Amino acid sequence: MSQLRGRFQKNADKKAAEYTASIPFDWRLYPYDIAGSIAHARMLAKQSIISPDESQIIIEGLTDIRKEIEQGIFQFKTELEDIHMNIEARLIEKVGEVGGKLHTARSRNDQVALDLRLFTRQAIRGTLARLRDFEQSLVDLAEANQEVIIPGYTHLQRAQPVLLAHHLLAYFEMIQRDCSRFKDCLKRADVLPLGSGALAGVSYNIDRDFLARELDFPQISQNSMDAVADRDFVIEYEAAAGICMMHLSRLAEEIILWSSTEFSFIELDDAYATSSSIMPQKKNPDITELVRGKTGRVYGHLIALLTTMKALPLAYNRDLQEDKEGFFDTVDTLLSSLEVLTGLISTLRVKAETTALAAAQGYALATDLADYLVKKGETFRHAHDIISRLVNYALTQDKSFSELSLKEYQEVSPLFKDDVYSITVESSLTARDNTGGTAPARVAEALSRAGDIIRGDKESSEN
Ligand code: ARG
Repeated sequence: MSQLRGRFQKNADKKAAEYTASIPFDWRLYPYDIAGSIAHARMLAKQSIISPDESQIIIEGLTDIRKEIEQGIFQFKTELEDIHMNIEARLIEKVGEVGGKLHTARSRNDQVALDLRLFTRQAIRGTLARLRDFEQSLVDLAEANQEVIIPGYTHLQRAQPVLLAHHLLAYFEMIQRDCSRFKDCLKRADVLPLGSGALAGVSYNIDRDFLARELDFPQISQNSMDAVADRDFVIEYEAAAGICMMHLSRLAEEIILWSSTEFSFIELDDAYATSSSIMPQKKNPDITELVRGKTGRVYGHLIALLTTMKALPLAYNRDLQEDKEGFFDTVDTLLSSLEVLTGLISTLRVKAETTALAAAQGYALATDLADYLVKKGETFRHAHDIISRLVNYALTQDKSFSELSLKEYQEVSPLFKDDVYSITVESSLTARDNTGGTAPARVAEALSRAGDIIRGDKESSEN
């Protein structure tokens, strides 16, 4: 019979027990549950709520249980509902009655809140490390292709030439914002809830500051009811993960486009591409399609938890158990997406000749020609008009700008002189020489700044 059947005359119905159990997924909280219980046992002894010997026996029992789980010999039982009860029952089985003292001055409500916060803290550390690796792969690819020019797009129409490095560094900026969101989430996750009891606090002389020190929490929660009912930190992680997946998905989409025959800007490494079961000529970008596809379920988990929580009265309600599967899946999906994308970015090959050609085509220098006329005294609006006519004319002649004669230029504006031919893709890039612009000198600066930021982040995470 389950340990929690106290005043009941019957065992739980099998289907009902399966329905309510969380052990199939919350087993993975075990390292946090055990770390929390060890700190709790120490605190109980320090406060003379249990004896030092009892505390020692409990701690040794918990340490053994951790080994059993790590070795895969621990028997998880559905009838024991969740990870907390599974570990406690095994503790009592191993060390006897004294094991029953561990749950003094504690409830599963503050226990699960603690476990989840410890898990979140670890998840954020792991996420930040993966984000850094991913940023490094973007910077490495940009550095290895510093001269590569591609068409920049608006409305997916060729707009103005840019450096590939500039395009890649746009993603570096997005990922930097993601890092800052996860760090911010950590501040609010890093609060000790233990000591809140079921909801009202506990009637023992506990030492919460000691617990916070033991478990390395910089803060302790200030309201017991909030502490057992709060899952904001999970929602914040899921929101940050949703935004981050949106960024990865946008890059994934570009990689899908760029690797198509139509664009042909890049070629994926064989190790990061898939073949078709029927069409032998195909090299498919399935990884990036899956990154794009999995973004949907990460958004879904955020909405699911917000919906679960929107009408919950204080304090703990069992609905809160629904926080876990979506959260775990969010972390797993984000980390694996980052990992494979990092590998894919690190190994792809850029086809610089195709991109250079594409950057020069499609009248991508039209803005530069308008700017040329502005420098000769035309208003920008008027210049825009003149160049529109020039584009129309060139289209009828099936000529590129560089193929037009000076006479043809001068037909639309007498301001055109021989120096119009010095407007090239390169001059267009060099001209965009402001902070944040695509001029090669600016991009070189941005690259070295990005490298510094990654190194700085790495150092600060190590101490
Ligand atoms: N498995 C539960 C959860 O994930 C643990 C807390 C149970 N508390 C309770 N009062 N039934 O939320």
